[in-house]
Amino acid sequence: MTLEEEILRRRTFAIVSHPDAGKTTITEKFLWFGGAIREAGHVRAKTGKKFTTSDWMKIEQQRGISVSSSVLSFPYSGCQINLVDTPGHQDFSEDTYRALTAVDSALVLIDSAKGVELQTMKLMEVCRLRKTPITVFMNKMDRDALDPLALMDEVERVLGVQCAPRTLPIGNGKAFQGVYSFIDDTVHLFQPESDTGEGDIRKVTGIDDPKLDEWFDAKYLKEFRDQAELAMGAMPPFDREKYLRGDQAPVYFGSGISNFGVKHLLDSFVAVAPSPMPRHAREREVAATEEKFTGFVFKIQANTDPKHRDRVAFVRVCSGKFTRGERVVHVRTGRQVRLAAPTAMMANDRAILEEAFAGDIIGIHDPGLYSISDTLSETETLNFDGIPDFAPEHFSKVYLTDPLKSKQLQQGLRQLSEEGATQLFYPLSGPIPVLGVVGVLQFDVIKFRIEEEYGAKCRFEGASIWQARWVVADNAADAEALQDLAAFRAEHLFDLAQDKKGNLVYLCPNEFRLQTVEKNYPKLRFDKFHVA
Ligand code: G4P
Repeated sequence: MTLEEEILRRRTFAIVSHPDAGKTTITEKFLWFGGAIREAGHVRAKTGKKFTTSDWMKIEQQRGISVSSSVLSFPYSGCQINLVDTPGHQDFSEDTYRALTAVDSALVLIDSAKGVELQTMKLMEVCRLRKTPITVFMNKMDRDALDPLALMDEVERVLGVQCAPRTLPIGNGKAFQGVYSFIDDTVHLFQPESDTGEGDIRKVTGIDDPKLDEWFDAKYLKEFRDQAELAMGAMPPFDREKYLRGDQAPVYFGSGISNFGVKHLLDSFVAVAPSPMPRHAREREVAATEEKFTGFVFKIQANTDPKHRDRVAFVRVCSGKFTRGERVVHVRTGRQVRLAAPTAMMANDRAILEEAFAGDIIGIHDPGLYSISDTLSETETLNFDGIPDFAPEHFSKVYLTDPLKSKQLQQGLRQLSEEGATQLFYPLSGPIPVLGVVGVLQFDVIKFRIEEEYGAKCRFEGASIWQARWVVADNAADAEALQDLAAFRAEHLFDLAQDKKGNLVYLCPNEFRLQTVEKNYPKLRFDKFHVA
């Protein structure tokens, strides 16, 4: 296979959902269709509930699939699927935000009984920021679901993306009868727990085909026909160009637990989802099929062995091919580094990658060199657009309880913030650093790690901060905007801080104050995301 063929067959994506919408269930079915696990239900049965990284590693040993804590990789229908794993718990959603910068598309799962939930909205903001193409799967149709048109209307309103239904359900809950596919005018009759995941698929001539009346209950069929007519009248047909621009989302309906509609989703997804997209660097746009290797670090994970303080940097390959042992340039420092493979860290020789292509995710040993957003490049000096920092929502001041360990505390905080485990703010008006996190559980992890890995005992104290916003002059060339910036700085000194890169951050005490400063300083921006 040529380099280009290898790259074009990659599909790198993440599943985005609110907890409990069915991500684990659908992931498992995907792996099963990909032949990566022999028995769907195996993972859940084995672990009781959710599977964790170590469970994945166990699966890897048993089934010989390539697994890292960051990506599940398996061949399917001539493609190489890279499903970038995202932490299930919403308190670690910052990791998910970052993972979304490493994918080419996203699959949004929605619980059809509940509609769009909070976590999905937050994650979709990130997708929108990057114009990531998204596909929507309305799950749990075997439960009493909201009206399909109302569900799509909510997606359009709340998530800000136009919906193009590719299937529509016939009935729901106990009366769920199947779905109609507009892709090829077929009906898929609902069969719980179908062995093949294919279901009973029948070709028809259109939604008015009289054969449908023989197969479906009249009441639900009428409901479906009405909805289908409305949908066809009011909603646009699927347009791949719009989808690739992130303006339109194809929508599917099904039931993950019953393995119904999942294969159809995967097949249709693989057919339209983008192969590795070009990446924007400060210097130029880099096409995935270029011959020379480039990549960027989107996640850093501390090794499970705290004594060695080893870390793994996860790199999204942006162009070309990576070969194990190759020397590349770490652009930020200008140093030559030799790339060792990820899974060496997992003590499983079989999983060591010998080569990887644009679209793949590799984990490399990090001796403390890498930071999130770093670029690696075979020869050329390139700086890929940085991964944004996301406005944290919980804040703590950090007090050292053992004064002799000040250096260790500083080092721990610095390294943990480089790793992306927390954001670190230095108030302009005092010496006590403030930690900002997206999920409150992150604090427990940080406190534990600072004590265990850096030997510094510390105390966290809540800070009365509502949100952090990066303050920038809308137009840096505008003298008035710069004056505004200086005035704002003087007026709000006690609520201002610098982030780890020295950018000005407003630690905003409440929503009302934010609205006031936005009104009073129209030439300033108070950004929720910040790209380094
Ligand atoms: P998550 O990873 O997004 O958090 O969701 P997960 O797959 O763990 O699913 C959450 C719950 O929803 C699970 O039930 C799962 O069985 C159920 N579920 C997933 N898809 C469907 C579906 O299509 N229909 C129905 N009716 N339920 C679905 P649980 O009781 O929490 O766990 P378990 O006892 O089934 O393991």
